[in-house]
Amino acid sequence: MDWGMSNRISRMIKPSTGHSVMLACDHGYFMGPTRKLENPRKTIEPLLPFADTLAVTRGVLRTSVDPKWETPILLRVSGGASILKEDLSDEEITTSMKDAVRLNVTSVALSIFVGSNHEKQSLVNLSRLVDEGEEYGMPVMAITAVGKELEKRDAKYLALACRLAAEIGVQIVKTYYCENFSRVVDGTPVPLVVAGGPKLNTEMDVFNLVHNALEDGAVGVDMGRNIWQSEHPVAMIRAIRAIVHERASVKDALQFFEDEKKGKGVESHAHV
Ligand code: 5RP
Repeated sequence: MDWGMSNRISRMIKPSTGHSVMLACDHGYFMGPTRKLENPRKTIEPLLPFADTLAVTRGVLRTSVDPKWETPILLRVSGGASILKEDLSDEEITTSMKDAVRLNVTSVALSIFVGSNHEKQSLVNLSRLVDEGEEYGMPVMAITAVGKELEKRDAKYLALACRLAAEIGVQIVKTYYCENFSRVVDGTPVPLVVAGGPKLNTEMDVFNLVHNALEDGAVGVDMGRNIWQSEHPVAMIRAIRAIVHERASVKDALQFFEDEKKGKGVESHAHV
């Protein structure tokens, strides 16, 4: 692997632990002003010290992220559909590699919609992005999107979608956690991170998801709503960091979350 590509990956997936906590704040590209992400800067700023990577579009990057902040950027470069459409799969590449380089981002991300009306379009778009990424040393993340069909989040479907992305040549895949997730990991010869999906009922549900995904072989999370839609987003991301980077148990993460909530945080859990 070329030095630039390898260096960018090391900035996102921490070599000290081999894991990563990515903060996903790119929802507005098709969902508009998502609850608790209406003002992106307000949501992002307090969480950034605890994120290994921030996922945003170029619009949010330029308007709402201070260029002096050092967190690596995962730039969403696909779009073209909005939440108003029944079929969200009709996406194209919306940001050029040239602009990604100009923005000095660490990686680019594009959704693929396997099994959808626009399956071929999204896979060909991904191939083009990977070609350009190889040219510039820019890692590409494929996101195995399911649109509104959340029931697609099972091992059979996700193993297929993740493997297709790996075969096209991406450096990393973002997918969903599911039952038998190790089957998805085993069939995908590149690192996987998991999204959180819509907000879960309890913190314990979120910590279980993260813990189980890591146990099954994910290198980390690229999570949004379950962090910033929480009443205690900083405590939430810090507890997730403890699981991802320190292999904290769910019980310890819950205790850590409760302590952080009450302002009794333990210093040893600070940014790894
Ligand atoms: C938006 C995305 C999100 O980045 C991804 O779904 C992760 O966020 P969440 O944890 O809220 O699901 O791809 O399209």
